[in-house]
Amino acid sequence: MEVVTAVKNRRAVKTFDPNHKISDETRRVLLETAALAPSAYNIQHWRIVDVRDPVQRAAIREVAWGQAQVTDASALYVLCADLNAWQKDPQRYWATSPQPVQDFLLPKLDEYYRGKPEVARDESMRTLGIFGMTLMLVAQDLGYDSCPMDGFDFDAVAKIIRLPADFAIGYMVAVGKGTGDAWPRNREPMENLVYLDHF
Ligand SMILES: Cc1cc2nc3c(=O)[nH]c(=O)nc-3n(C[C@H](O)[C@H](O)[C@H](O)COP(=O)(O)O)c2cc1C
Repeated sequence: MEVVTAVKNRRAVKTFDPNHKISDETRRVLLETAALAPSAYNIQHWRIVDVRDPVQRAAIREVAWGQAQVTDASALYVLCADLNAWQKDPQRYWATSPQPVQDFLLPKLDEYYRGKPEVARDESMRTLGIFGMTLMLVAQDLGYDSCPMDGFDFDAVAKIIRLPADFAIGYMVAVGKGTGDAWPRNREPMENLVYLDHF
């Protein structure tokens, strides 16, 4: 599928066929392709909890305003970030790059993140945004629908998925076969959004 077509066809789908199963191979392609998304310093902050246990799905739905996508989608991914990934063997993120690149970037990375938790959080959330969008477009290309979701109690979901202390949840993405039409599309006119040279 053309990327433009995938972008145009993607909608935040509210209802999914609860009986549809996504094959393990498709799940693998979905996540491995999404993981080709860019990330700051190639840190790949994303850590994905693939929630398959129906009991756990039901528990999450309860703290997610009862939204049906949580239990009915074929896959539910909780996109989390490792806020300290920047200091966990960071040389591995650049191991395939020429030595001068590594020598330049490793101290830079440390300087960029050390003592600045807000930077780690901002970078993680930026990265999760790009990862999730890539995931949704790949899903579209593979014949699936999706819904990004942050309508839930973050603390309660953190408890259910046993989120480690130095991780943060970004949002969830439900993937499956949509049933029924999405709500009518609504976008701001471009003149409300785009400024020439400055505000
Ligand atoms: C970070 C984020 C969180 C969202 N949370 C929810 C949600 O909890 N439930 C839901 O039905 N849609 C959710 N949406 C979908 C938006 O409502 C939807 O993208 C928007 O209305 C535009 O519709 P479209 O994606 O179909 O073009 C979320 C979207 C984003 C980006």
